[in-house]
Amino acid sequence: MPESHTDTGPASSGGRVTLSAHERAELFATVPPEPGAAKPDPVLVASNLTRTFGGLTAVDVAHLEIQRGGITGLIGPNGAGKTTLFNLLTGFDRPDSGTWSMDGTALGKLYPHQVARRGVVRTFQLTRALSKLTVLDNVRLGARAQRGEHMARALMPWTWRAQEREITARAREVLARFQLDAKADDLAGSLSGGQRKLLEMARALMTEPTVVMLDEPMAGVNPALTQNLLEHIKSLRDDGMTVVFVEHDMDVIRDISDWVVVMAQGTVIAESPPEALGDNQAVVDAYLGSHHDQALEFDEQGNPVGATAVLAERLEQAEIATLEAGGDLAEPEVTVDSALGRTPPESDEESRKS
Ligand SMILES: Nc1ncnc2c1ncn2[C@@H]1O[C@H](COP(=O)(O)OP(=O)(O)OP(=O)(O)O)[C@@H](O)[C@H]1O
Ligand SMILES: [Mg+2]
Repeated sequence: MPESHTDTGPASSGGRVTLSAHERAELFATVPPEPGAAKPDPVLVASNLTRTFGGLTAVDVAHLEIQRGGITGLIGPNGAGKTTLFNLLTGFDRPDSGTWSMDGTALGKLYPHQVARRGVVRTFQLTRALSKLTVLDNVRLGARAQRGEHMARALMPWTWRAQEREITARAREVLARFQLDAKADDLAGSLSGGQRKLLEMARALMTEPTVVMLDEPMAGVNPALTQNLLEHIKSLRDDGMTVVFVEHDMDVIRDISDWVVVMAQGTVIAESPPEALGDNQAVVDAYLGSHHDQALEFDEQGNPVGATAVLAERLEQAEIATLEAGGDLAEPEVTVDSALGRTPPESDEESRKS
């Protein structure tokens, strides 16, 4: 039997499980390669999840199960709905309909920090490091950003208590894991693109999650460092975490995934072991055969360029404004939409209260 861990805190009913490569292969061999396929031990289950923006259906997922203890790659062309699905599952956006749960506990109607407390955390397609704070403070804030505590206090050393010291100690541990400990006192803005991706993962790990959802963690990372980043992602799985991973590079997907979910136009069009993706005509037609651009642009050092740089700057300004007002980054106000001055998706306060 695989060793079970329940070190995800009392609020998490399920937990981590570390599976050997052999055990994972055996598990996934039992799963039929079809959309909505049932998994032997699903940690996340979503049903009839829909999200529309005006006339556009961004997500329309009939059924999706994520197997515990594995790395699930989520692929699909630009605009397929991958990020929107992440937003819904982690409480950063509200669906028009649908239910989703972790280990049988419904996650609908929860805010991001509540979802995080139950063990599901995510990173963002465009890295959200606060460049004018130190690397250590960024990670320390991670504990709160996904916990829903007050940020302003965290920035005022005179209010530190024992709990603060504990958070600092854990932040240093997490930084060491990603070989960022030597950079702890540097400003996050001085890090390379790849190091910022690691920093964001470090932030997410502060809540000791069960499920880690990574939205294009390789985007903007110097190719020389991608292997290192991949090893870090595999190490999350080795620690028993379940990883869901959005990536455009098929070589990366084949290297790292135990199972692949393919989205196009909001729906799951295929599920398959990575090595069988090319055999699936729907996948070839919708994805592999077509040319697709990276939506975000980065230079060789992983720094955002062009419109991506403008977006990154606005996101950071919006986050700083939220922090200065004593707000919480886990609240849905700081979004790509608000940073860009776009009309945010309709917030569904009524359904949250009911
Ligand atoms: N807040 C929003 N308002 C309006 N439309 C949106 C919003 N968010 C996403 N969309 C639209 O929903 C669709 C799905 O977008 P999403 O960002 O989820 O795709 P994606 O699969 O993550 O794409 P990419 O690979 O480019 O990151 C797109 O057509 C997008 O333009
Ligand atoms: Mg996306």
